[in-house]
Amino acid sequence: MAGRMTLGIVKPDAVAKSHLGNIIAHLESAGWKVRAGRLVRLAKAEAEAFYEVHRGRPFYSELVEFMSSGPCFPMALEKDDAVAAFRAAIGATDPAEAAAGTVRRLYAESKGRNAVHGSDSDENAAREIGFFFPERERAGLWG
Ligand code: CMP
Repeated sequence: MAGRMTLGIVKPDAVAKSHLGNIIAHLESAGWKVRAGRLVRLAKAEAEAFYEVHRGRPFYSELVEFMSSGPCFPMALEKDDAVAAFRAAIGATDPAEAAAGTVRRLYAESKGRNAVHGSDSDENAAREIGFFFPERERAGLWG
């Protein structure tokens, strides 16, 4: 059965443009429960570790530089079938290809500066929630 939790990040481009409140309001209106969240500026090494799975891809260093360029807002989000539902809510990686009404279509600039991140599997959601909220993950407050 698909899990009820996923990890979303409002990325530095959207935080810098003061879209954080609008994006959270958009998600809450669509039925998402924000179960944890914090504003954090990632060190370069932390961004490298978070995106380790993409190491070696042509966009990896650009991604790491961007994600450590300013504050971002990771959130543990809850809804039925959370991973798939959140990916549908945020839209395609490239905002030019994202469906109308999705977060990336509304707020993203480009494929690299694309306003939000969402976990791509239940396994990665657990790893990514644990990356930002280890104490909550350990306490088993969701699952
Ligand atoms: P995200 O969901 O955070 O997961 C990996 C990120 O890599 C993705 O969103 C994009 O922001 C970024 N990405 C993927 N493809 C490219 C690309 N071709 N150029 C720049 N960034 C990319």
